[in-house]
Amino acid sequence: MEPIKLSERVYFLGVQDWDRELFDEIIPLPQGTSYNCYLIKGSEKVALIDTVDPKKEDIFLENIKELNLKIDLIISNHAEQDHSGAIPKVLSLYPEAKVVTNEKCKNFLRDLLLIPEDKFLTIKDGEELSLGDMTLKFFFTPWVHWPETMVTYLKEDKILFPCDFLASHIATGEIFSKGDDFIKSTAKRYYAEIMMPYRISIKKHLEIVKNLKIDMIAPSHGVIYTDPKFIINAYEDWVSDNLKNEVILAYVSMHGSIEKAVDFFERKLVNLGIPYKKFNVTRADIGEIAMALVDSATLIISTPVFLANPHPKISFILSFINDLRPKTRFAGIISSFSWGQRIEEQIKAQLNFCKLEYFPSIILKGYPKQRDFSSIENMVISIKEKHKEIGIL
Ligand SMILES: [Fe+2]
Ligand SMILES: [Fe+2]
Repeated sequence: MEPIKLSERVYFLGVQDWDRELFDEIIPLPQGTSYNCYLIKGSEKVALIDTVDPKKEDIFLENIKELNLKIDLIISNHAEQDHSGAIPKVLSLYPEAKVVTNEKCKNFLRDLLLIPEDKFLTIKDGEELSLGDMTLKFFFTPWVHWPETMVTYLKEDKILFPCDFLASHIATGEIFSKGDDFIKSTAKRYYAEIMMPYRISIKKHLEIVKNLKIDMIAPSHGVIYTDPKFIINAYEDWVSDNLKNEVILAYVSMHGSIEKAVDFFERKLVNLGIPYKKFNVTRADIGEIAMALVDSATLIISTPVFLANPHPKISFILSFINDLRPKTRFAGIISSFSWGQRIEEQIKAQLNFCKLEYFPSIILKGYPKQRDFSSIENMVISIKEKHKEIGIL
């Protein structure tokens, strides 16, 4: 089989993983994923950019063997095992090869994969490395999404290899894409679940990317962008401070009290023309919740008191949201209890990384009564006023 080429001497050696359902044992992968890696055939040296997850290394090594080349350099942009895991295997096949990376990534690779010190060639930020007629330039981009992450730029062919940065979890038979709504939603899901906590770092690193002349962006998951502006523009919007006139309603109801309150809340949002996304967190796809958190202005958490705490499914979502640190500005709490509770403080404490302005909480004693419906209506009116105040309505 003829390997796929990005340009005359740049090959795609990635492997599609159609069946993978979870990443980090938590993130749903409705489209599977891929582990992309690339081979650059310079006139003097052959370089591999990243590798694959070890569970796919056999197919990957077959792809390498088909090219019948000796690998001199393995560029490691990121130490996480879905990209670095096959490095030891490649080193065993090509014992002369050097792993090219930054100091921090080297230390991670030594710890995680037990690669000996003498196998490394350490580079500095902005350093260039010649492959003969081709030149690689490295830019350090820490915290997308680990502290050691970097991107590699192939100067002559104007191809950027950003590893996880700008990537998407999708297994596909069409590896090149100009970008469309479906690809954008896979990239948004990826950004939401993996990159969003590092929004401020990413904003800075996006400037590095924008200052380079790029014809193609070749990440280490998902499609290769043949129109770099497509993904750069999408990221600019996601990392910006822009918010959408949208409310997230995340709830659990055990005996119908919360459900009644949430249904009433929903009707009032409809009456006032405020768009919303409703998630019953007992069965919601957490990736969909993460995507909504990329730009929704308001988050409403609604939970019964369960053994003096938020419902455990709500606690899980609160912990997930807190880790994602979304730019969401406003929040409201609706809860229902039968005896003692400190639910308001508990929820706020669980969202302590988020900078939220709270509406007055609505704590129901059992089933919602007339005064509770009035409070809910007031909360929805306040949402509209706040959204107006920040200019999104
Ligand atoms: Fe990663
Ligand atoms: Fe990755």
